[in-house]
Amino acid sequence: MESLFLFSSFASLATFTFCCFAFLPSFIASSYPIFKHSIYPNFTASHLQFVDYNGAFLGSVNGTFMASIIGLSQSPLSYYLSIIHKSTNTIIWTHNPSTPISESSTLLLTINGLFITDASNNLIWSTPPFNSPVRALQLLETGNLILVDNRNVSLWESFNHPTDTIVMGQNLDVGRSLYAPAGPTNLSTGDYRLTLSDKDLIFQWRDQTYWMLSMETNAFKHSNEPLSYMAMNSTGLNLLGDDGSLVFQVNLNFSSFRIAKLGSDGRFRIMSFIGEKWVEEFVGPEEYCRVPSACGQLGLCNIHEASCSCPPGFDRRSDDKVGCVPTDDSLSLPIGCNPSGNLNSTSISYVKLEDWMDYFSNDLAEPVKRSVNLSICQDLCSMNCSCLGFFYGNYSGVCYLLENYLGSIMSKSTREDRIGYIKTSSASSTKNTFTKKEDKFPMVAMVLIPLFGFFFLLTIIGIAILWLRKARPSKLEDAMILDRQNSLSSSSELNIISIPGLPVRFDFEELVSATENFETEIGSGGFGMVYRGTMPDETVVAVKKIKNFGTRGKKEFCTETAIIGSIHHVNLVRLKGFCIQGNLRFLVYEFMNGGSLERTLFGTGPVLQWNERLKIAIGTAKGLAYLHSECQHKIIHCDIKPDNILLGEKSSVKISDFGLSKLLDHHDNSKLLTTMRGTRGYIAPEWLTSSGITDKSDVYSFGMVLLEIVSGRRNCTLMTQRSTGITKDANGSNGESISTLSLEPGWVYFPAMALEMHNQRRYLELVDQRLEGRVRSEEVEKLVRVALCCVQMVPEFRPTMAEVVAMLEDRLPLREPRVDALNFLLSFGGRLSRHAPD
Ligand SMILES: *[C@@H]1O[C@H](CO)[C@@H](O)[C@H](O)[C@H]1NC(C)=O
Ligand SMILES: *[C@@H]1O[C@H](CO)[C@@H](O)[C@H](O)[C@H]1NC(C)=O
Ligand SMILES: *[C@@H]1O[C@H](CO)[C@@H](O)[C@H](O)[C@H]1NC(C)=O
Ligand SMILES: *[C@@H]1O[C@H](CO)[C@@H](O)[C@H](O)[C@H]1NC(C)=O
Ligand SMILES: *[C@@H]1O[C@H](CO)[C@@H](O)[C@H](O)[C@H]1NC(C)=O
Ligand SMILES: *[C@@H]1O[C@H](CO)[C@@H](O)[C@H](O)[C@H]1NC(C)=O
Repeated sequence: MESLFLFSSFASLATFTFCCFAFLPSFIASSYPIFKHSIYPNFTASHLQFVDYNGAFLGSVNGTFMASIIGLSQSPLSYYLSIIHKSTNTIIWTHNPSTPISESSTLLLTINGLFITDASNNLIWSTPPFNSPVRALQLLETGNLILVDNRNVSLWESFNHPTDTIVMGQNLDVGRSLYAPAGPTNLSTGDYRLTLSDKDLIFQWRDQTYWMLSMETNAFKHSNEPLSYMAMNSTGLNLLGDDGSLVFQVNLNFSSFRIAKLGSDGRFRIMSFIGEKWVEEFVGPEEYCRVPSACGQLGLCNIHEASCSCPPGFDRRSDDKVGCVPTDDSLSLPIGCNPSGNLNSTSISYVKLEDWMDYFSNDLAEPVKRSVNLSICQDLCSMNCSCLGFFYGNYSGVCYLLENYLGSIMSKSTREDRIGYIKTSSASSTKNTFTKKEDKFPMVAMVLIPLFGFFFLLTIIGIAILWLRKARPSKLEDAMILDRQNSLSSSSELNIISIPGLPVRFDFEELVSATENFETEIGSGGFGMVYRGTMPDETVVAVKKIKNFGTRGKKEFCTETAIIGSIHHVNLVRLKGFCIQGNLRFLVYEFMNGGSLERTLFGTGPVLQWNERLKIAIGTAKGLAYLHSECQHKIIHCDIKPDNILLGEKSSVKISDFGLSKLLDHHDNSKLLTTMRGTRGYIAPEWLTSSGITDKSDVYSFGMVLLEIVSGRRNCTLMTQRSTGITKDANGSNGESISTLSLEPGWVYFPAMALEMHNQRRYLELVDQRLEGRVRSEEVEKLVRVALCCVQMVPEFRPTMAEVVAMLEDRLPLREPRVDALNFLLSFGGRLSRHAPD
């Protein structure tokens, strides 16, 4: 396996301006290393391996694009091999939307191609077989991921297998399609498809055509030549013939970077990234009501009022997210051809629509019959179980059948005379099967009338501005509030923006059932109780019930939750979701089965070996460094202590409770002193003097924890047999200095002792006796010295967490702590130690 990058913690400073460019903190904020532009067999990559860079393992020459195994917030979290446009944080390609992979899936490059396997080595995706062996995988500056052979001939290109997006320089060949995702944050394949035929660019919903590029007023036709491919350049979107001659053209203003994407709402958009935000240059169909599922099944779309309602004779049940159903309870909509749902033709009736109502397919589909009378048209529909309704031209005698799925109803755009009839059947025979269908029928865009315009605007403006730029955090909620129930988001999104980590909003009932009515308490902290829960997909979670949330509203809660949820790092406990129920607030975290460092280090279980301690120290430092490096939403933890350091499988370590200080109060730091936290023994001196709390306060707490990791006991300890023993040992060689450490009878303040031992370079005497000397002395010295650097009185003297990581990983020379900045430990520690630790 190759080492891919030159990591430098300090690069984050250099990239500061860059990272503030994008909103998503976890995504771009941390320093990116210089990626390779080509990789060679044999090579493996996984998200876990490159987790510090959000899974990125390959970059284009100028860094415009990168290839990444990225996790997207879906439930459950799904990972994709993706190509990302870095500065706009946009996913332009994924390996296959229908087969997401997991965090532990592996990407393998061999001479036979690219392979993705799951954790148990089953093949999930691969490139097809090639005739010659693969020499390299390269990411080109255009965003094209290619496999080349020894003669540099391309064997496979991601550009030839687009998902929902094309970028400049990419051709969409005739016969190829773009597939819309199912939702703004759900990349699995949705119902819409865009296909280039030799005549036009065809928009389809569930195989039914609803739009064509030629229907757009700003698509100019230049010739009748058959189409060969579609391409975009700096001046527009072009449909071209075999010899590159122009057939259709959509002229656009000059732009150096634009993408074209089929959204989950069924609309095709071309956008440019101008002045740090996306500008929509083209959208088709322009008229929203032209989208088949604009208002859900049989929803009536009113373009003028931008609203959805139901046609007469139908209404929307409050519990019905599908669309409109017959008002008459004795009637129901049939569900198309279903072998078990045997339709009895005698139970069929029809509800007539108003004569100004029309259906999306009527302008585009051929009538099944011409010059027939109404009863023949009706019989055609009645006899065919795939027919769900028909339109009949009263004067022209044409007959159109509505087949398989019902979309929305719109107002007529032409002066056609056709009138619609919707098939219904008596409810009793089909009620059950119909209910089943609701689940399988992901009709999008069910919109409450008054919310429609409001959210539509908010979402477009909110998401666009927000994700891309300055993001007044409060707006974030608007995006978040569009939770799973409110599928409006899928109809009105600008969903080219990836939203990794947006947490899920859970129903209170879901949490009640997951935790079996808050049965198993696994902890309690400054914020309230923590309960163990099991989600329906068997994942175990920790549910934190937040008390004392105070007067702050939902909005702030959502904002902060979104920020916390967007932070993904291997050493930070992941926030899976949240729940608001009345005045109650819940946060749902991943469950760490190893318990806390507090329990492991001070408990009676097996002794933590030195190697594990070192790993925990480095992991914790990395997690904190990551929190501190966030530039938009730099997070100060404020309560670093062994209780908040959680252990998982294979001595993985994660910090919990980060971001919660902001949750409680982010406007007024002084309040932190009263409402919060900071646990005695770990809080920095500046807390007590009310001067500003900074990231250096966390560094102090970390230093204190580091000392406890070395000694295996609390810094403030009532002398037990064991600690007396240490004191005696030390006393044996230097009685005078040690006596100053016993501040009060029975109490030992370990940091002061560490200072003394440091002055005498007798580090080994500080080590947990239970380890019986199974340590490396230079590592003990390193940890103690780093710890002492961290707990210096003056915040400015303390290293940053990034520097701490570098020192722990031997990438930076150890610093010498300043003794004059540490003498306070002798008296300050004494003061603290008069209070027993909580
Ligand atoms: C790559 O792996 C394959 C099998 O896993 C092995 O046969 C081959 O020798 C390896 N190639 C290199 C260059 O290591
Ligand atoms: C293929 O391309 C690489 C880098 O672009 C170059 O170093 C190599 O010489 C090329 N090989 C051939 C056979 O052209
Ligand atoms: C974009 O492509 C069209 C069609 O090939 C061509 O006419 C136009 O000149 C191109 N624009 C630029 C800036 O190259
Ligand atoms: C419709 O046409 C069929 C045959 O063309 C005829 O038998 C039938 O009577 C007509 N029905 C009406 C209502 O005119
Ligand atoms: C129902 O209509 C569809 C579409 O017109 C047609 O393909 C199918 O054969 C018809 N089925 C029957 C039983 O007539
Ligand atoms: C259909 O046309 C007939 C005359 O040909 C007219 O009497 C009838 O009202 C029309 N029906 C509708 C629904 O417009």
